[in-house]
Amino acid sequence: MPKNIKILHVLPSGTRQYNLHGWIAHKDDLCVGHIHMSVESNNRLKFLDAWVHDDHRRKGIYRELWNTRWQYVNEHYKGWNAYAWCKPMSLPLLLEKGFTTGDSTVYVEKEIGIENKPYGPSCFVSC
Ligand SMILES: CC(C)(COP(=O)(O)OP(=O)(O)OC[C@H]1O[C@@H](n2cnc3c(N)ncnc32)[C@H](O)[C@@H]1OP(=O)(O)O)[C@@H](O)C(=O)NCCC(=O)NCCS
Repeated sequence: MPKNIKILHVLPSGTRQYNLHGWIAHKDDLCVGHIHMSVESNNRLKFLDAWVHDDHRRKGIYRELWNTRWQYVNEHYKGWNAYAWCKPMSLPLLLEKGFTTGDSTVYVEKEIGIENKPYGPSCFVSC
């Protein structure tokens, strides 16, 4: 990662989103990337919301953010389970770190109010 980029750990606030940690990579007062972690019940940690600005990709920022978070969880959550839902770009690093794959998901969407017409155009039935 470029030396002029620093990482800031944002701790959960006591009021809202009390279980959400953030790690922000910043340069010249601008956020150039971030990752988050949600502390859940049953000793589970959800890794989520990885993003690096287009202009700064493939320079190791995500890797550095990831390693920083991993060091933190090893110090504070030993024995817990970490999980994540990955996209193709974030999956390789988690596999490299020893995570194993589970189910895949597929994104779907539909405009509300537009219903399917399974039987074609309507026609009047008189009997
Ligand atoms: C995924 C993302 C955070 C990676 O950020 P980055 O700073 O460019 O990643 P790094 O340079 O630290 O790369 C670390 C590793 O991630 C993987 N990786 C990163 N970009 C990748 C890509 N385009 N395709 C495949 N693997 C990729 C590689 O394993 C890479 O290791 P390597 O450089 O030794 O090959 C960034 O591309 C992004 O914001 N993508 C859009 C949002 C997104 O998909 N987020 C994931 C949400 S689950």
